[in-house]
This record gives sequence, structure tokens and C-alpha cells, in this order.
Amino acid sequence: MSIMEYVTHVRVLMMMDNKMLPKIIIHNSISIDGSLTRFEPHMGLHYQIAGNYKPDAHLIGSNTIKKGIELYEDGIPPEEKKDFEKQKRRKNQPYWIIIDTHGKLKGLLHMCRRFEFCKDVIVFVSEKTPKTYLNYLNERNYDYHIVGKKQVNLKKGLEILYKKYQAKTILTDTGRILGNILINKGLVSEISLLIHPVIVGNKSYNIFSDVNKNLKLKLIKKEILENNFIWLVYTVENKNSAWDEI
Ligand SMILES: NC(=O)c1ccc[n+]([C@@H]2O[C@H](COP(=O)([O-])OP(=O)(O)OC[C@H]3O[C@@H](n4cnc5c(N)ncnc54)[C@H](OP(=O)(O)O)[C@@H]3O)[C@@H](O)[C@H]2O)c1
Repeated sequence: MSIMEYVTHVRVLMMMDNKMLPKIIIHNSISIDGSLTRFEPHMGLHYQIAGNYKPDAHLIGSNTIKKGIELYEDGIPPEEKKDFEKQKRRKNQPYWIIIDTHGKLKGLLHMCRRFEFCKDVIVFVSEKTPKTYLNYLNERNYDYHIVGKKQVNLKKGLEILYKKYQAKTILTDTGRILGNILINKGLVSEISLLIHPVIVGNKSYNIFSDVNKNLKLKLIKKEILENNFIWLVYTVENKNSAWDEI
């Protein structure tokens, strides 16, 4: 087999494989110099755009959840009886899918479950996850899945979400770490950026600085919102590029 035939073969296999995976959209608020942090995001616009996608699930990193609780919540209220039960009433809301191998969110997950725009929380962990955290999840009736030896195997996790939860569209408004891993693995189809009129400068936490491949994008939307914010949406044209994966 020639190298070109081999590359084509790998590409076709990967495309067939990805048919059973949800569509992943990264949605982030950034400064004009590309920082994810160190400015105040316009939460109204950020979540209005996120909601318009009508995703089946949000995929979120443990650091993002932890930071969000620190920034936006006023302390951690004690758990109540209902925090140990699955949410049943919010059928039309998206699941929150959280990757948390180390149990960083032990004692905090009820803050997510209580959120009115969350159907319920599903946690992905690995074989290395402490038993105490699994007990915590079991006692509170959280769905969780052990996928991966050390870290969570994201592709396997996405397959589970597609098959078991019928999650066809997943929006991830997470930070750089998880977002860039998803891009590097060729799992991201669309990138939605809400650009804020602010420059962060030398303390910038750049949205794409751990991406290790050259992405080709196509602009499919550009809107000016509230006179000062720009919403850009790109599709990723070469997410399955065999040259980048080999
Ligand atoms: N401006 C915005 O739109 C926006 C949105 C969200 C967040 N943020 C900011 O971003 C910051 C947090 O983001 P972050 O970049 O620190 O982290 P993050 O995106 O929350 O990502 C951390 C997650 O990546 C997972 N992970 C790490 N390595 C992995 C691997 N090899 N395989 C699978 N999963 C892996 C971790 O899993 P384990 O826990 O299992 O290790 C963890 O769940 C906060 O400051 C937050 O405010 C900004």
C-alpha cells in the first residue's frame, strides 16, 4: 500500500468511527487577545448563545466547575435529602457531563445538580479514581462511568453519551485544558467565540495555546451583539485530518 493509500484508508476509517459520536461545539467567551480568563464575561450573552444551540449535554472540566463555584457562588450550602436523588423534572434541559478522575468535586456536585438549567449530572472517572469518590457518587445516585485507566478516555465517553443518553449535540463551555484536548483528538466540529471588548495582555490565559495541530476553519456566522461584542462561529474543516493524527 502506498503512503497516500494508507492515509486515505486511515481517514475513511476515522470518518466511519466518528459517525457514532456526538457533534461537539466549543463555546467560549474571550478577550480580543484570546484570553479565557481575567475579565468579566457577559454571562447573559454567553448563556443565551449556549442555550440557542439546544444541546443535549454540556461537557465541562472539573477545574471549570470548581472555579465557577468559587467565583459565582456565595459559599457551599449543606446537602439536603433531595440532593441525594436524581433530578426528574427537567426533561428538556441538557445533562451536565463532568470529567473528574481525582474527585475534585466531592462535596460540590449538589451545586450543579441544583442548577435549574441542568437535567442532571453525569460524571466520567477512570480506574484510578479514589473509591471514596465513587462511594460519594453512588450514595447520591449520580450516573457515573469508569472509562480509561489513568485519565478519562474521552472518545469512549462520547460513545457512551451517544448510545446511552442519545446525546447528539454537546456544547462544551470549558477551559483551555479540556477544550484543547478535544481539538487535538479531532473531536470538535464547531467553535463559537463571543469576543469581548477587552485586552487582557501579558496575564492572558490563551484559549488555543495547547492546540498541537493546524486547524482549517470556515466562518459560518458573524454577528455584532449589544454594539460591542462580536460572535463568531467556525466549523472545523480538517478535524479528521489523517496527516495530523498519524
Ligand atoms: N471564558 C470562558 O468561556 C471560560 C469557560 C470555561 C472556563 N473558563 C476558565 O477556564 C479555567 C478552567 O479551565 P482549565 O483550562 O483549567 O481546565 P478545564 O477546561 O476545566 O479542564 C480540566 C479538565 O480536563 C480533564 N483532563 C485533563 N487531562 C486530560 C486527559 N489527558 N484526558 C481526559 N481529560 C483530561 C480534567 O480531568 P480530570 O479532572 O479527570 O483530571 C478536567 O476535567 C477557569 O479559570 C475558568 O474560569 C473560561
